[in-house]
Parts: sequence; C-alpha cells; structure tokens
Amino acid sequence: MSSKCAGVPETLNLTVAADWVRGRISKKRFEHVRGVVAVAEVLATKHGCDVYQAQLASWLHDCCKEVKDSTLIVMADEMGIETDEHTRARGHLLHGPVAAAVVAREFGITNRELLDAIAEHTMGNAPMCPLSEVVYMADCLEEGRSAEYRAAIWQELEKDGVFNMAAGLVAAMNLCIQDLIETKRPIHPKTVHVRNYYLNRML
Ligand SMILES: [Fe+2]
Ligand SMILES: [Fe+2]
Repeated sequence: MSSKCAGVPETLNLTVAADWVRGRISKKRFEHVRGVVAVAEVLATKHGCDVYQAQLASWLHDCCKEVKDSTLIVMADEMGIETDEHTRARGHLLHGPVAAAVVAREFGITNRELLDAIAEHTMGNAPMCPLSEVVYMADCLEEGRSAEYRAAIWQELEKDGVFNMAAGLVAAMNLCIQDLIETKRPIHPKTVHVRNYYLNRML
C-alpha cells in the first residue's frame, strides 16, 4: 500500500495517524473510527477514490469528537473557522472543521481534499469531492451503527446493482433529518441544503 500522498508529510502514515488518534479519544470511539476506516476502504474502491487518502482521512475524522462543545467554539474562533447561531448553540457540529484545522497544524497536511473530507464529515457540503463523500458515507455505514440503519442506506447505495453515491447520501440525510424531527432537535439549514443538492444529483 502506497503511503505517498500529495500534501501529506512523509512522516505521517496510517499507523502514526491511528496511534495519535488513539490517545485523543475513548476506546469505544476508537473502535468506531477503526470501523469507518474499514468501510471507507470498500467505498473508495467502488467510488474511484484513492484508498490510502480515504483511510487516512477516516483515521483522523473524529480526533476532536470528544472535545467539549464550548472548547470547540473557542478553538473554531481561534482558528478562523466560520460559525453561525446553529453551530454556536450546538458546538459538537464543529468537531469536523476543528479536526481538519488541528491535523493541518499538527502534521502539516496541506492536501485540500483530505482536509475537506475531515471537515465535512458531520454536515456534508454541496457539493463534496468524492473523497468527502466516501468519508461521510463510511461514517454512517460503520458496523457499530444499527443493522437496520445501515441496510436502509446500502439498499439505496447499491440499488439494482448500480453504485449510486448520491442516492446513498440522500438516504443517510433523510434518516438523519427524520431522527432530528422525531427527537425534537433543530435541523441545521445546511443539512437540508446538502440533501436537496444530492437529491437533484441522484435523479
Ligand atoms: Fe464525527
Ligand atoms: Fe465518526
């Protein structure tokens, strides 16, 4: 497996990334991350992405997931990350963008697609690059998620034997929006915007 990747220092490889992340999150979360890496490998192949980049972005995507909401807001402000009333009210939504800035600083990563994939894994973007799509989707399809939830997404992702990333993303976003409604939580306008964008693309 090649560890060469533009905009990623030679000193950073999958083992270094995994060990660094292991020290920043709980054992349970680390198992989630390991699962995301495994699914990302499968999806990257199906979606024509660089497998190594997908694995690296996946190892790093949740490195700030256990940082307190208030700290994430402070870090976002310090690092010049844009916030709004929604992300300031629910600071955990910033764990992706903050993680991207943290790993860029920590490791000297300048690969834009890799950083975007980390930043966009929580709320997505319209559009996302293929690598971001893979990491977003892998985060949803990781084995620790319920079998029913994963099956519903896989069904759309591979309907009639044709791999359709946009359809998979819409299915995941529909389930996310549905859950937010059922649990009486606010929906970030971006979630709706991204869902509508991919709905148009899947048709
Ligand atoms: Fe996350
Ligand atoms: Fe995750």
